[in-house]
Amino acid sequence: MGSEKTLVIGMFGFGVVGEGLYKVLKQTPSLKASIKKVCIKNTQKKRNAPADLFTSNPDDLLYDPEINVIVEVINDSAAGYEIVTTALNNGKDVVSASKKMLSEHLPELIALQEKTGKSLLYEASACASIPVIRNLEEYYDNDLLHSIKAIVNGSTNFILTKMFEEELNFKEALLLAQQLGFAESDPTLDIEGFDAANKWVLLLTHSYGIDTTIQDMLFNGITQISPIDAEVAQSRNQSIKLVAQAKKLQNGKVASFLLPQFVDQADQLYFVKNEYNGVVIETGFADKQFFYGKGAGSFPTASAVLSDIAALRYGYRYEYKKRNQQQPAELSDSYNLRVFISFESLANVPKEEFTSIEEWHSGNERSYLIGTIPYQSLIHKDWWKTNNNSLILMPNNIVENSEVSELKKMSLSLAGLDV
Ligand code: HSE
Repeated sequence: MGSEKTLVIGMFGFGVVGEGLYKVLKQTPSLKASIKKVCIKNTQKKRNAPADLFTSNPDDLLYDPEINVIVEVINDSAAGYEIVTTALNNGKDVVSASKKMLSEHLPELIALQEKTGKSLLYEASACASIPVIRNLEEYYDNDLLHSIKAIVNGSTNFILTKMFEEELNFKEALLLAQQLGFAESDPTLDIEGFDAANKWVLLLTHSYGIDTTIQDMLFNGITQISPIDAEVAQSRNQSIKLVAQAKKLQNGKVASFLLPQFVDQADQLYFVKNEYNGVVIETGFADKQFFYGKGAGSFPTASAVLSDIAALRYGYRYEYKKRNQQQPAELSDSYNLRVFISFESLANVPKEEFTSIEEWHSGNERSYLIGTIPYQSLIHKDWWKTNNNSLILMPNNIVENSEVSELKKMSLSLAGLDV
């Protein structure tokens, strides 16, 4: 084992996570890590820490030779990128919680980590308190990982729980998520799925060695979900959750998407409520494993930053084994999804694109159908999230091409569907 080094930290940001880390570090003296300076934008704002801790000049941290660790917990991704790259280039290890920045620049940052020989750790950037990145990185071999599905955004899970179980309306639930420090400063990032998509980019790299971007991801948030969707869920004893999923297909490629989903009670994710996150991993030999913990909030997120700081004492760095040493998996665009679509007008649903339709309900204000549709009919298209359409995935939603002909035989005739 290498000798443990003393860590002198320069921290960027003193918001929900930064202040949480400051408090948590004070309660962890055994760690031999102390914050020397904190860089903030607004020096006028009153802070719960001594005034001489703060500066507004990034160079006071980035060019201080005594500081050997930069912790970056700000929400400006362009500034975050500048800070993280300068810090690595200046020979400092970095811990970041900036999922958006990391998702936008991961391949460059991996290359820079390699070039500088320093560590860039970011456990707090996905699922906050759940140690999912280090687990995926160290424990699961590419070939053994059959599938991973997860709730990765605390705010949306909190909102859906409050709406469906405590009858708050969307606005009230979002406001509460903001007040409790779960939501992003721009909450559209949460409710429209961007935050979860950024996290999923990172988890795909660590689970399957895949480099991708949110621009190439099939995703949505929770803003289209309508009361009738909730009624359908209730009548089936299911809940609706925003779930990210990746699964190895028969051809070895990976199906990946992040969409609202009906979750039934046999699924571990059904019991993930409020700001909690959950990850279900299926492997060749261990079958199912379930990770559960707080996915947002000051101390849960700070706990993951703290764990990364602790790991730096013995020089831990991600090796990106699946990406760099093994054959990375490829994303597939050739499979089908079993979906529920509710809509005001069938004219806004391209029914001819469905491979099969298994259920159809006509209502006064909204109707819905359940059917199977090629992934290609959804990716880079927006009919399913515009014109008041709402798409929710069914449980067991991936239908491989080899299974489609059977479905076609069972399908209802599309010809009979009239507006
Ligand atoms: N806004 C994020 C969430 C914070 O709700 O999950 C944690 O990343």
